[in-house]
Amino acid sequence: MSDKPTLPGDLTASEVVERIIRVDHAGEFGASRIYAGQLAVLGHGEKAELIRHMKAQEDVHLQTFAGLIGQRRVRPTALLPLWNIAGFTLGAVTAALGTRAAMACTVAVEEAIDEHYQAQAETLGDDERPLRDTIERFRADELEHRDIGLENEAELTLGYRLMSRVIKAGCKVAIAISERV
Ligand SMILES: [Fe+2]
Ligand SMILES: [Fe+2]
Repeated sequence: MSDKPTLPGDLTASEVVERIIRVDHAGEFGASRIYAGQLAVLGHGEKAELIRHMKAQEDVHLQTFAGLIGQRRVRPTALLPLWNIAGFTLGAVTAALGTRAAMACTVAVEEAIDEHYQAQAETLGDDERPLRDTIERFRADELEHRDIGLENEAELTLGYRLMSRVIKAGCKVAIAISERV
């Protein structure tokens, strides 16, 4: 990536990378909290093992980005306390509606993250290959999570389409804010 501004608003290549690491750290933290919220409600249910599997992967993603925050001296988002509560609440409230609704939440969130990671991977050049490879690897995990949601009747949730739209819109807002703040 050249160090010329690559996005509107005159971001340099290093600013682009900082934003990527900041928002991905925030997102993986939020994802871990969503699954923690689901487990608070469904931790003894039929799907508990599946949800624990997804949370374990999110925790690896989170630790990786936390490492990058340290190594590359990126300021973390100031909104971690908000994503802590918002993520947990989203996970717990959807889980309280039932296992299908929890799975619908997973599908919506993971679809939003898939698009987000795909766009980032396209932005990064060969000079940021390790970061790009990390993002692609995590993206494959997110797609696995989406598929788990779909295989577990996410789409049979009452009000699936509306719920999906609202959660995805929320994710996009959270992403836009966490890149900057
Ligand atoms: Fe993740
Ligand atoms: Fe995920």
